[in-house]
Amino acid sequence: MMKRTRISDLLESGQSGHEATVMGWVRTKRGNKNVAFIALNDGSCISNLQIVVNVADFDEEVLKKVTTGASLRINGLVVPSPGQGQSVEMQATGLELFGVADPESYPLQKKGHTLEFLRSIAHLRPRTNTFGAVLRIRHAMAFAIHKYFNDNGFFYLHTPIITASDAEGAGEMFRVTTLDMKNPPCNEKGDIDYSQDFFGRETNLTVSGQLEGELGALALSQIYTFGPTFRAENSNTPRHLAEFWMIEPEMAFYDIEDDMDLAEDFLKYLIRYALQHCGDDLKFLNEMYDKELIERLHLVADNAFIRLTYTEAIKILEASGKSFEFPISWGKDLQSEHERYLVEQHFHKPVILTDYPRDIKAFYMKQNDDGKTVRAMDVLFPRIGEIIGGSQREEDYDKLLRRMQEMNIPEESMWWYLETRKFGTVPHAGFGLGFERLLLFVTGMGNIRDVIPFPRTPQNADF
Ligand code: 4AD
Ligand code: MG
Repeated sequence: MMKRTRISDLLESGQSGHEATVMGWVRTKRGNKNVAFIALNDGSCISNLQIVVNVADFDEEVLKKVTTGASLRINGLVVPSPGQGQSVEMQATGLELFGVADPESYPLQKKGHTLEFLRSIAHLRPRTNTFGAVLRIRHAMAFAIHKYFNDNGFFYLHTPIITASDAEGAGEMFRVTTLDMKNPPCNEKGDIDYSQDFFGRETNLTVSGQLEGELGALALSQIYTFGPTFRAENSNTPRHLAEFWMIEPEMAFYDIEDDMDLAEDFLKYLIRYALQHCGDDLKFLNEMYDKELIERLHLVADNAFIRLTYTEAIKILEASGKSFEFPISWGKDLQSEHERYLVEQHFHKPVILTDYPRDIKAFYMKQNDDGKTVRAMDVLFPRIGEIIGGSQREEDYDKLLRRMQEMNIPEESMWWYLETRKFGTVPHAGFGLGFERLLLFVTGMGNIRDVIPFPRTPQNADF
């Protein structure tokens, strides 16, 4: 292959007067019988490169096949662009057609498509401006996450995808098995005999890397995980996926205040990183989907988050006079309508809620002395609601064991988790950031299915 210049590099450098080779997909072709203008995109940036083709210099039959979606190699001279909005264009001297895209059947013609339609062609939607922008921002955020933790002395810990424990104790797991579903082995009681399964026990896809993350933090002091997590919750909402990516830092010698400080600093860093490195893509999304996007990103990056307890939040919600779809009172879990009321209508800023009722939170959270609440913290964002969930962890062996028994968490299979509270236990804390929730916020997209390349949701595992 001839050496390819990325279109982003050509446009950014703005230099002209030299030959170059570009490769990509045709977005549009227009012109007349003398000259054709091809807008070529190679995914390196939102902008297309304008290719000017002197029709007489090329085989008419080949040029006819250069239609929207076709893939090309172009050699040519880079020249200053007389048009507005681009530094350079290319005068074609050579053209090779890699692949045609029949205009009768190629679904991505010029006209704007709905996001719903694009979901049905997820194999092609990365070639649209919108998904190009989203996928580049997704990459930039993943990179920034690793950079933030690496720069701050955290170690990337790889936690297992297949596990035998339910980290959140919520029973929302996908089973992993190699047993014959039609004819599974059974024991005397008639129950399926998982001792004959691949791992000799019941296993599932992980809902969170936290428990293993804690093991890492209790040795390396500061770790983070960043991997796929799976939840078999039947939530068909714009904010839930059955397969999503989660970032879970876990820190020894941290209390809940330290945990909140880290969460706030981390989120602001990521938003500033996007503003600094994804300007063109954010500008496009701001214009196309959400006119307040960039303003909102600045607002969150530049203002202190509000911190208050769950109990205080319930008082505000009760005093609001709003009639919520789900009536709220102390002891109930907040729905996204409540979270968004606090953030969008009451405080106009991100909010961190702490000290939730223990009965609506997971077994591992540190118990407060009041006997009713735990040291949980959730970060609530405009448009999203909960973006982060975390807590200080219960480091006291007896208290943890008692709570596990109360909540029917099988202690025998969690012996390794309990042992960390026997041997050199320390105060520690952590949180989980939903990667796609972060991307919803940063891109301004409205549906979580549109910030992951191939979404998995109830009744849908296409592509
Ligand atoms: O609040 P969650 O369930 O917390 C945990 O899993 C803890 N183990 C985290 C920790 O303390 N290490 O999930 C954490 C975050 C949520 O705040 C949300 O952003 C995201 O994960 N999340 C989802 N994102 C997309 N689809 C779903 N079904 C999600 N469930 C949770
Ligand atoms: Mg949560």
